[in-house]
Amino acid sequence: MGNMFHRKIVFITGASSGIGEAIAVELARHSTRLALFARRQERLEQVAKTVEGIGAEGVMTLPGDVRDMESLNGAVESVEKAWGRIDMAFLSAGVGQPTTLRTYHVERMRETVEINLLGVINATGALLPLFRRQGGGLLVGVSSLADGRGSPLNLAYCASKSGMTNFLEGLRAGCTREGIRVVVVKPGFVRTPMSADNRFSMPFLVEPDAAARAILRGIRRGRRTIRFPWPMACLTAVCNRLPAPLYERLMQALTSSWR
Ligand SMILES: NC(=O)c1ccc[n+]([C@@H]2O[C@H](COP(=O)([O-])OP(=O)(O)OC[C@H]3O[C@@H](n4cnc5c(N)ncnc54)[C@H](OP(=O)(O)O)[C@@H]3O)[C@@H](O)[C@H]2O)c1
Repeated sequence: MGNMFHRKIVFITGASSGIGEAIAVELARHSTRLALFARRQERLEQVAKTVEGIGAEGVMTLPGDVRDMESLNGAVESVEKAWGRIDMAFLSAGVGQPTTLRTYHVERMRETVEINLLGVINATGALLPLFRRQGGGLLVGVSSLADGRGSPLNLAYCASKSGMTNFLEGLRAGCTREGIRVVVVKPGFVRTPMSADNRFSMPFLVEPDAAARAILRGIRRGRRTIRFPWPMACLTAVCNRLPAPLYERLMQALTSSWR
């Protein structure tokens, strides 16, 4: 099989850090043209320099917020104007701030849902018309292994990721016939600025470059859902199948030790 990433035009949200940045770096090795979207322009410039050094054929930095439809529409338009199309989009923008029952920080919960769930709905809304006009495209959403069941330690994050996975699965079922492929990525713990503040132990922690490689490998293999690392995927699969009373007791035990 040929290299499906070679010289492709790629749009990445959350490209200024962590998994999104690591995906940009991995894709730069395939002579891609990369459109990097996130809020922090200076960080995007740094990533742009790195990927240019590695071998990206073109780089565009697009400062914007996924909560703002205008900035997303403007970004997609700029890429189309400059490069004519977008072959692939990676939606990695997200926040992972803890939202617990004890603090019940409504503003923070709203922000989490607005960025993680509505942000994906917005980005899809900006990309879909172009994908339709050009007769297809690949849309990859970075959800989480935490999308399966609610957690009292991360109320809004789990809800946002559950909604995101559900949204992308609906999207996939609705648009495969249009040549649009939708992939849902479910990472376990990845060492990024997002997870740096976690005060609990993070089993099977993955480095961002390994995460990016796992994602590209899964896409190459035609996966609809990409879960990694496998021990964490197995652990969450078991957790998701526990009877509710048992799951609740487990959560209570974790909550008291993590507080
Ligand atoms: N790290 C983990 O353990 C882990 C595990 C499972 C899933 N994930 C998911 O992976 C994705 C990437 O997370 P990460 O670990 O790479 O975290 P990260 O290093 O903090 O990166 C998050 C990225 O999202 C961007 N972002 C945040 N809010 C945004 C907004 N409103 N508009 C545009 N961009 C925004 C940030 O850039 P700016 O601040 O410059 O906007 C940054 O580039 C997230 O969706 C996260 O939920 C992470």
